[in-house]
Amino acid sequence: MPFRIRRHSYAEVGATLSALDSNAVPFPKGFLFGAATAAYQVEGSVDVGGRGVSIWDTFSHTSGKTVNGDTGDIACDHFLRLEEDLDLLAELGVRAYRFSVSWPRVQPTGKGPANPEGLDFYRRVVDGLRARGIVPVLTLYHWDLPQPLQDEGGWPQRDTVSRFAEYAGTVARALGGTVGRWITLNEPWCSAWLGYGSGHHAPGIRDIGKAVAATHHLLLAHGEAVQAIRSAVPAAEVGISLNLTPIRHATDHEDDVAAARRTDGNANRLFLDPVLTGSYPPDMLEHYQGSAPGFAVVRDGDLEVISRPLDFLGINYYTPQTVADEARTAQAMVAGYCVPTAEIDLISSDLHAVPVQRQAFRRTEMGWEVEPAALTELLDRLHQEYPHVPILLTENGAACADYVGQDGSVQDPERIRYLDGHLRAVLQAREAGSDVRGYFVWSLMDNFEWAYGYSKRFGLVWIDYPTRTRIPKDSFRWYAQTVRANALLPTVEATAGFRA
Ligand code: FCB
Repeated sequence: MPFRIRRHSYAEVGATLSALDSNAVPFPKGFLFGAATAAYQVEGSVDVGGRGVSIWDTFSHTSGKTVNGDTGDIACDHFLRLEEDLDLLAELGVRAYRFSVSWPRVQPTGKGPANPEGLDFYRRVVDGLRARGIVPVLTLYHWDLPQPLQDEGGWPQRDTVSRFAEYAGTVARALGGTVGRWITLNEPWCSAWLGYGSGHHAPGIRDIGKAVAATHHLLLAHGEAVQAIRSAVPAAEVGISLNLTPIRHATDHEDDVAAARRTDGNANRLFLDPVLTGSYPPDMLEHYQGSAPGFAVVRDGDLEVISRPLDFLGINYYTPQTVADEARTAQAMVAGYCVPTAEIDLISSDLHAVPVQRQAFRRTEMGWEVEPAALTELLDRLHQEYPHVPILLTENGAACADYVGQDGSVQDPERIRYLDGHLRAVLQAREAGSDVRGYFVWSLMDNFEWAYGYSKRFGLVWIDYPTRTRIPKDSFRWYAQTVRANALLPTVEATAGFRA
């Protein structure tokens, strides 16, 4: 049966809930429903208001680095359409909005005094949110390192840590009076391992030893920023957003089990352990022993800085990952897996592990398997294996093959089903004791998806790139209902699934 979402008007939601409340699934009172974006992906206006150049400007303007040679020069034009986008957030009814500050807008060269015009823009963002009753959640670093700092070596260099601490203090002093929730870094794994390991992301370097050093300096920068924020804003709630995922082994063969263990070490434990327990995983210290400079950059006292207590842990979750030992892809295929031909390999080459996928399994347009239960599994693991800290799901969402229909609407039942399933997974983990307090959809609107350019759409709002017109998709209305009802309504059960 073709899917058509039932459109409740917002006023109707209360009535709908009482009519269907036996089937509605409620969220706890005050659950922080939100939506997320990041500066380089949406702002555009890259040479406006004294903004400096970031590594993503340089990278996206380098031939062959992004699909279609796309850049963030204009992106969603959010810098110039701020009021319109704030109104969209108000219409969506979210309680919180997660955005990032562009470092080169605030410090054009990555050091020295703040650029007042840059800070003014973020003041307008924050004031506009607060005027609409929306809680600002500010990310300090969503991958746009000022290019001059990369020219001096970037994240593999220890000096970048001091630069970041200075920047964090500058932003905290300027916005601390109006922003209560702070995220230091977004997905340091991507900055380190896609940026300096595989080179799929800016600055496009391929050097495992540098990726390890970048990992350490990013984490140290996180710890220093925690301190800088707390001294400027004593009441601030501070966290970090890590991209985490369960790693499975294609078969129970010991080599596949070992490959999964290495991959889990690199993707998850390399970040969780230092931040939450103050030590690097011993197997990872051993694994990277031969990669210079690698862990040789670690100094006494660094891990105490990295493990400064947090108010929350941000988790970005999209998909689980299965791997086979690189010598065992044939056996994995016999076991029912296929080897995806993803343009961006999310598994570092030094791990000698190959990502595999279940054949005929549901996937998004990113080629990522859709498995909400894996989110529950991840949250359960964190609850069991790590010291307890409140959790915010700071990103979750799906790229779908959206299009504007003849009636001008964008119907995206697959995204609705994805979000519904993952919100149910959050509730299930909560029942088992996980302290998840909020959920942010990635993303408010379609935007510049890094090396994939504009070819992947994650938004609740469609962006017509030639005109930058915004069209709320069906998922926007669905999410608005969910947030207003503070519950999952049963309508989604009629939705179609992803194509296998
Ligand atoms: C995450 C990034 C975010 C977005 C989503 C799809 O890794 O943090 O900017 O690109 O993936």
